[in-house]
Amino acid sequence: MTTIGIIGAGEVGSQIARAAIAHGYQVVIANSRGPETLDDLIAELGPLARAATAKDAALAGDFVVVAVPLKMANNMPADELANKIVIDTNNYMIWRDGNYPLIDAGLKTEHELRQEQLPRSKVVKAFTTIQAPRITTWGKPTGAPDRTALGVSSNFPEAVALATRLYDQFGFDAVEHSPLSESWRNGPGQPAWKQEHQTRSELVANLAKARPIAG
Ligand SMILES: NC(=O)c1ccc[n+]([C@@H]2O[C@H](COP(=O)([O-])OP(=O)(O)OC[C@H]3O[C@@H](n4cnc5c(N)ncnc54)[C@H](OP(=O)(O)O)[C@@H]3O)[C@@H](O)[C@H]2O)c1
Repeated sequence: MTTIGIIGAGEVGSQIARAAIAHGYQVVIANSRGPETLDDLIAELGPLARAATAKDAALAGDFVVVAVPLKMANNMPADELANKIVIDTNNYMIWRDGNYPLIDAGLKTEHELRQEQLPRSKVVKAFTTIQAPRITTWGKPTGAPDRTALGVSSNFPEAVALATRLYDQFGFDAVEHSPLSESWRNGPGQPAWKQEHQTRSELVANLAKARPIAG
């Protein structure tokens, strides 16, 4: 059985945990305040889930979801995440995160910065444009004409492949926009960000319409 480590048990982390459990994964999930604060969520998720520290969730996962905003100084367990695929759901929100000059100048994307903070991991941007509650409610079978498509971006093809498989299991199509230097194309404010439900062809068109936004 595959285990997903999930660091971040807020809106996105908890919804990915629910979807993962529904699709037969084991989940080891962490927040910043400690496993004992996750009793209610674990009770809801059932026996395939357990709470842990971030380090333990990273170690336990065959792959790991990081559903925590990026910080200037790395606060993710880089050693425990080494050699693993890390699905990063982060969005750069100036109102929340403050200004990152490299991002504002268009020199780096937030996901390139995450990759730099986790140099021995394979970071893949995914689940960033869908509101968290939809992760468990908007999924549709493969081939459904109005299936929602989501972007996926990484410097590592195997990480794109894994996120694409997970999307498909959860009921979503994938549109790749790699490498991570291209991940801004569905960032906040872009057409692919503003239109939450988009089919594969609509997402491809919206990614092509992306224009840099001054910070
Ligand atoms: N909300 C959405 O619909 C949505 C959709 C797509 C993408 N996103 C993006 O996904 C990311 C997560 O968003 P969210 O809405 O899920 O945030 P959230 O509800 O605020 O949850 C953040 C989680 O991260 C945990 N956390 C913070 N620092 C940590 C650390 N150092 N170690 C372990 N856990 C830590 C928090 O734990 P504590 O509560 O214990 O502090 C909390 O469980 C953000 O970048 C957001 O922009 C959000």
